[in-house]
Amino acid sequence: MAAPLYQCPKGTHDILPDEHLYFSFIKKVVRYHCRRAGYRRISTPMFEDINVFVRSIGDTSDIVEKEMFVFESKSGKKYALKPEGTAGVVRAYLQNGMQQLPKPVELYYIEPHFRYNRPQKGRYRQFHQFGAEILGESDPAIDAQVIYLAHKINTDLGIADRLTLQLNTLGSLEDRKKYKEDLVNYYTGKERSLCEDCKRRLHNNPLRLLDCKEEDCQILASMAPKLSSVLSEESKEHFRLLQEYLKELKVPFILNEQLVRGLDYYTHTVFEFWSKKDGAQNAIGGGGRYDGLVELMGGPATPAIGFAAGMERVIEYMKEAGIRPPNKDAVDVFVAQLGLIAKKKALPLLNELREKGINTVGAVGQASIKSQMGLADRIQAKYSLIMGQIEVQEGTIILRDMKKGSQETIPFEGIVDKMVRLLGENKLKNKKLWEE
Ligand code: HAM
Repeated sequence: MAAPLYQCPKGTHDILPDEHLYFSFIKKVVRYHCRRAGYRRISTPMFEDINVFVRSIGDTSDIVEKEMFVFESKSGKKYALKPEGTAGVVRAYLQNGMQQLPKPVELYYIEPHFRYNRPQKGRYRQFHQFGAEILGESDPAIDAQVIYLAHKINTDLGIADRLTLQLNTLGSLEDRKKYKEDLVNYYTGKERSLCEDCKRRLHNNPLRLLDCKEEDCQILASMAPKLSSVLSEESKEHFRLLQEYLKELKVPFILNEQLVRGLDYYTHTVFEFWSKKDGAQNAIGGGGRYDGLVELMGGPATPAIGFAAGMERVIEYMKEAGIRPPNKDAVDVFVAQLGLIAKKKALPLLNELREKGINTVGAVGQASIKSQMGLADRIQAKYSLIMGQIEVQEGTIILRDMKKGSQETIPFEGIVDKMVRLLGENKLKNKKLWEE
């Protein structure tokens, strides 16, 4: 087959119907758990004033330095496609006076995001995240609840046992300031062993040196002073309590002092979900506290915490685990007909079945019954209803169980109710809690 004339842009992908089964399933599980925990859904625009991201994520972060899709309006104003969700949510929180709402304010989102990075497995230029943010509460019990929410979603998606939860604290803004000085002192004189990126980061963002993936940088990072040595008593207590709460909630975690996250707004708790197989590569999600961000964006001092997960990566792990989401598109009934009078009866029957919540497909062309039944087979319909001229005249219809291959002729009258009974029992048997 010749290559198509047009292809989707590099790093983007079409979500085809089979893939949408996964997206719909994930959204359902996320919505269910977020609603139960009091979160309400928010959507922010696909693009924002570029400064919303530069200010919050940090002008020396990889995302801002290299990965934003930036464009200018005709009037010369600079915008960026959103590379992540937190900055936009904080902007919306302030712009819409949400600080007046009872605290904490709990929000969740399921949105596409954009990063201009080199596409590879699990890394795209347009990808989807689900995420949650809680604003207005500093208690470590909230940190534990946010992490529990992410863990619970992973569990219901069937991937929790393939992941480890990596946990660290970055301390308060003051702790971090002190720690950055310690790091600069430690690395001074060792610059020659650092990669080009880290040489540059040393003076504008030394924390990032700790999670560089270059081998020499990693060796130096493993011997660098630890943040725990400068943590204030308050920061230590916050982290200690969080760990106790997580144990109480039976969420397993691994302490990882090297975990710093790639966005500048974090304070205290930071966490990531890594694959047991691939480690830090392709983390499926992460988050942390950002107690200084609302203030940095021009609002009142407001503690906050959140997380986000990459849906494409979640799907990858679900597939590896052999998890198939329920096929809500599965065809329940195929209506086959032959001849004009049968077609006239079939058309309202299709609609009546659909109105009862039954997924119904019908052949409305001129194909023979044999080829219509071939189609019913290919689309894996559970039942077929077949009508020709004789059935219409006799007031009957043929009901075929496609799996068993058996069929019977039954009265046309009451056929919709019969199908509801037949399928309803099956549907109810498979119903899960989050299938509202
Ligand atoms: P992040 O770690 O940058 O955090 O992204 C969260 C998740 O989005 C990643 O773990 C990954 O699964 C997915 N992701 C990121 N970039 C890509 C990409 N290029 N292709 C595919 N998936 C990707 C944040 O975005 C923070 N806003 C999380 C947060 C919320 N922190 C506090 N609140």
